[in-house]
Amino acid sequence: MSQQQRKSIVVLTGAGVSAESGISTFRALDGLWQNHRVAEIASPQGFAVNPSLVHRFYNGRRQQLVSGTVQPNRAHLALAELEARFRGKFWLVTQNIDDLHERAGSEKVIHMHGELLKKRCAHCGDIGMATQALKITDTCARCHRTGGIRPHVVWFGETPLRMGEIYDALKCCDLFIAIGTSGNVYPAAGFVDAAAAVGAHTVELNLEPSAVESAFAEKKYGPAGTLVPDFISRLEG
Ligand code: APR
Repeated sequence: MSQQQRKSIVVLTGAGVSAESGISTFRALDGLWQNHRVAEIASPQGFAVNPSLVHRFYNGRRQQLVSGTVQPNRAHLALAELEARFRGKFWLVTQNIDDLHERAGSEKVIHMHGELLKKRCAHCGDIGMATQALKITDTCARCHRTGGIRPHVVWFGETPLRMGEIYDALKCCDLFIAIGTSGNVYPAAGFVDAAAAVGAHTVELNLEPSAVESAFAEKKYGPAGTLVPDFISRLEG
């Protein structure tokens, strides 16, 4: 099916798309989960037990993101250009909590695991921008209570965001591209099955085969900063 005949594309990205921008992935040998216990850092229980430890983890990642040392790479830019030029429907679903897709120019970004630059009040649900360090003593701008301000990030055991929109998009896509994700975490790891079930062509672009590589019709391996622009230029060719 040529690019001209395609009607809708769903792209799923994971930490690997931001790796060449200098943001650590999770499950690599030097990944974030090698130096931290996931349950202590990325779970509601961990936040309840030691909120300062959780804030310290996310404050460090937020500080790196706003420091100016982290910039979108060629994969982010190529995806933004595809969205701008593609005449059909386009969805960019990301598991990443950084804002590199937006800074590259992507507009239709669905952050299913939340956003590092946002905070949420656990008491009233108020969501606000967060570019500075968060502290457990912070007061909510809406309910004025303290002790509830947390990163607006989806933790293990919590429900990812905007899943209805994502499954609606998968049901009508004819091309599904997964980029830089290990396929270890559901529901994102199952999106390829949902796309294949409606006859979409499925593509994995990754540094190495993911845990769900067998579900993909087409697979290319290498750094996203090279692979993604090449794939998109061939798609448009
Ligand atoms: N180019 C392409 N792929 C890369 C690159 C790169 N430069 N560097 C690493 N990768 C690949 C790795 O081979 C791996 O398959 O990116 C993937 C990253 O996998 P994970 O670290 O598991 O990250 P991700 O799949 O996004 O994790 C999903 O798990 O911990 C939770 O909430 C967290 O959103 C995260 C979710």
